[in-house]
Amino acid sequence: MSDVEIKFEREGLDGIVAVGTYVIDAMKRFGIRTEDACLPSGEHFCAVTITEGADLLSAPTEAEIKFFEINGKVEGERLACQTMIERPGSITVMTKKKKAEEAKESEREAAADYLLEERRVGSGVESRLDARRLFRSPRGR
Ligand code: FES
Repeated sequence: MSDVEIKFEREGLDGIVAVGTYVIDAMKRFGIRTEDACLPSGEHFCAVTITEGADLLSAPTEAEIKFFEINGKVEGERLACQTMIERPGSITVMTKKKKAEEAKESEREAAADYLLEERRVGSGVESRLDARRLFRSPRGR
C-alpha cells in the first residue's frame, strides 16, 4: 500500500493522498489555504501540528529548523511546504486558526462580555429604580 490516510482535524476533512505528497499539497487538494505565502524576510505561514503519524514524514529541513529556532516550536509542529509524507499510514494534521477567524472569535467574545456586563449593570439599574420607587411611594413621603 502506498497510500496515506490524511485527516485535517480543524476542518473535519479526511481522505487519501499518495506517498510522496507534501503536506501543503494535500491541504490545497482539500481546499485548505494558509494565511499567506512565504515572505523574503523568512516569515512562513504554513506551520501545522502533526498530531498523529509524525514518523511517516520527512526529516525537518534547514528552513524549518531555522524558523522554529526563531519562533519557538510546539511539539509536532512542521512547515507544511517543507514536509513530505514519505511512508504509508495515517496522519492527522491540525492547521492554525486564520487571523480572520481569530478576529471573529474575539469579536464574539467581546460581544458576549458586553451583553453580560449589560445584564449585570442592567440589574443594578433596576435595583436603583426599585429603590426610587420605594422612596416615592406614598408611605415614603
Ligand atoms: S509558507 Fe514558507 S515554507 Fe510554507
